Amino acid sequence: MTGGGDCPGLNAAIRAVVRRALTEPNVEVVGVKDGWKGLVNAETVPLDRGAVSGLLIRGGTILGSTPSALFKHDVEIEKLIGGYRRLGLDALIVIGGNSTLGVTARMAAGGCNVVGIPKTIDNDLSGTERTIGFNTALMVAVEAIDRVHTTAESHHRVMIVEVMGRDTGWIAVMSGIAGGADLILIPERPFDIGGVCETIRKRHQIRNFTIVVVAEGAHEDGMDVKVNADEKDAFGYCTIGGVANWLKREIHARLGFDTRAIILGHTQRGGTPTVEDRILATRFGVKAVELALEGTYGVMVALRDDSIVTVPLKEASKVKKVDDYWYSTAKMFFG
Ligand code: F6P
Repeated sequence: MTGGGDCPGLNAAIRAVVRRALTEPNVEVVGVKDGWKGLVNAETVPLDRGAVSGLLIRGGTILGSTPSALFKHDVEIEKLIGGYRRLGLDALIVIGGNSTLGVTARMAAGGCNVVGIPKTIDNDLSGTERTIGFNTALMVAVEAIDRVHTTAESHHRVMIVEVMGRDTGWIAVMSGIAGGADLILIPERPFDIGGVCETIRKRHQIRNFTIVVVAEGAHEDGMDVKVNADEKDAFGYCTIGGVANWLKREIHARLGFDTRAIILGHTQRGGTPTVEDRILATRFGVKAVELALEGTYGVMVALRDDSIVTVPLKEASKVKKVDDYWYSTAKMFFG
């Protein structure tokens, strides 16, 4: 089952699960349709070798997905457990991010045999050094930053690249380091617009263009995250985003510099996975099946020191924030 937002590498993980499982005699694999919604309704599709052929390089998820925040109440957990039992599953492998694996942990507490695989372009799950999808999102972001660089230089502009990262700034920090960003703004470090403008003003005394990378969840100190007033999510709340456009207006108003905003949005979640994500998804998928076969449940597979290890699901679903080491490394190159 895949849950939550999609990302490149989900299909590669599904393929790995099926291929590893089918090396065992008497193992049958089914895919749950459309995430938790499909589990509640006990809707599955058969997954044999033919069904996963060609999946390694395909973005998205052939199974479909539903947001996990819709299933956070006890009554929904009961329904999920009910669906699991109705399907007569021996084990359920869930590929998800923080909230999906949080729900999975609660199913484990309810007696279900579950194993988690971490995915999210945000790379913000504690317990693992990497999540499926992160590397591909970084490649998309870095390519965009590189391209924006040349046009920023030609026109002496301030270019603001908004990347995803609702709660954490991993994509912003890593792509900013790799792309040579002159300033990086992330949710973990609320900013002061006066300070932002001062950094840009000083930089323009030496170089006449600036690249700012901002995570969508970055916000001013003491202020709320910016939202898209005309766009609602599955719960009826406005989606977050718009900080780049706000910064563009502020920077232009305060400094007079020609400024542009580029919002990468869901391009970071689409398309074929990178080599690194394909390999990670494959290793995670194989290990998850092996854990299920040996009867180790309630855990998530994780990457640590280049080995695939297991961590308790409860621990794994906590949010991993950008720490001082990473931010101070990026900061060394600001200005
Ligand atoms: O959780 C991954 C993520 O990429 C967040 O950074 C982003 O805010 C969110 O997905 C957007 O998802 P959707 O548009 O599907 O609600």
